[in-house]
Amino acid sequence: MSDSTGTLDILRDINLDFAYRETAAIIGASGSGKSTLLSIIAGLDTPSAGSVHLDGQDLFALGEDARAALRAQKIGFVFQSFQLMANLTALENVMLPLELAGRRQAREAATEMLERVGLGQRLGHYPKVLSGGEQQRVALARAFVVQPAVLLADEPTGSLDFATGETVMNLMFQLNAELGTTLILVTHDTRIASLCQRRVVVDAGRARMDLSAEQG
Ligand SMILES: Nc1ncnc2c1ncn2[C@@H]1O[C@H](COP(=O)(O)OP(=O)(O)OP(=O)(O)O)[C@@H](O)[C@H]1O
Ligand SMILES: [Mg+2]
Repeated sequence: MSDSTGTLDILRDINLDFAYRETAAIIGASGSGKSTLLSIIAGLDTPSAGSVHLDGQDLFALGEDARAALRAQKIGFVFQSFQLMANLTALENVMLPLELAGRRQAREAATEMLERVGLGQRLGHYPKVLSGGEQQRVALARAFVVQPAVLLADEPTGSLDFATGETVMNLMFQLNAELGTTLILVTHDTRIASLCQRRVVVDAGRARMDLSAEQG
């Protein structure tokens, strides 16, 4: 990564494969490069070297527009801070990615997804009147509604209390299993990490598999 302040090596020698439908947790200390890695996997940050392949397609061999189009079709993103559009209702927030991806019947699909996350009664409500947990459920609906190949989540429960985080995580794993998504999530919560099939530890910009707590 390079800007006017010079070059900073953030990630190096990363070689990771994620399988279809896999659940993987990316863990590591603050500042180790987890969010940067997620942004690169999403094609949002361009690495100074290396490549990212999604469904056989080299993301950085594509132009900006083609990469954005591929992202709209195949990648869902969930953030710690929800990042809903404040001027759109819950329903409109969930319809947006469908419209951007050129899908038909956006209203019906978005309504159905909001019902699945338990927000069928809140379709017309704006984010500011929703609780944090409700906003994150809208964000989950928005991320899953395009049925992405990959769902990337950066500390999805980081702003929620324990019980609310638990509800959000259960929903996330449930939607992941139902829709056959590959789920890659960054978390500081060891319990959530242990619920994933695999853990990747990022340490000073390098990634390794965590074999200490291997689970099915
Ligand atoms: N655009 C940028 N310009 C300069 N430095 C950056 C930029 N983005 C990230 N960094 C640096 O890269 C390193 C990794 O940052 P990153 O946000 O990926 O860490 P993280 O593992 O997600 O941390 P946290 O757990 O606190 O979210 C940090 O030292 C950060 O300051
Ligand atoms: Mg981060």
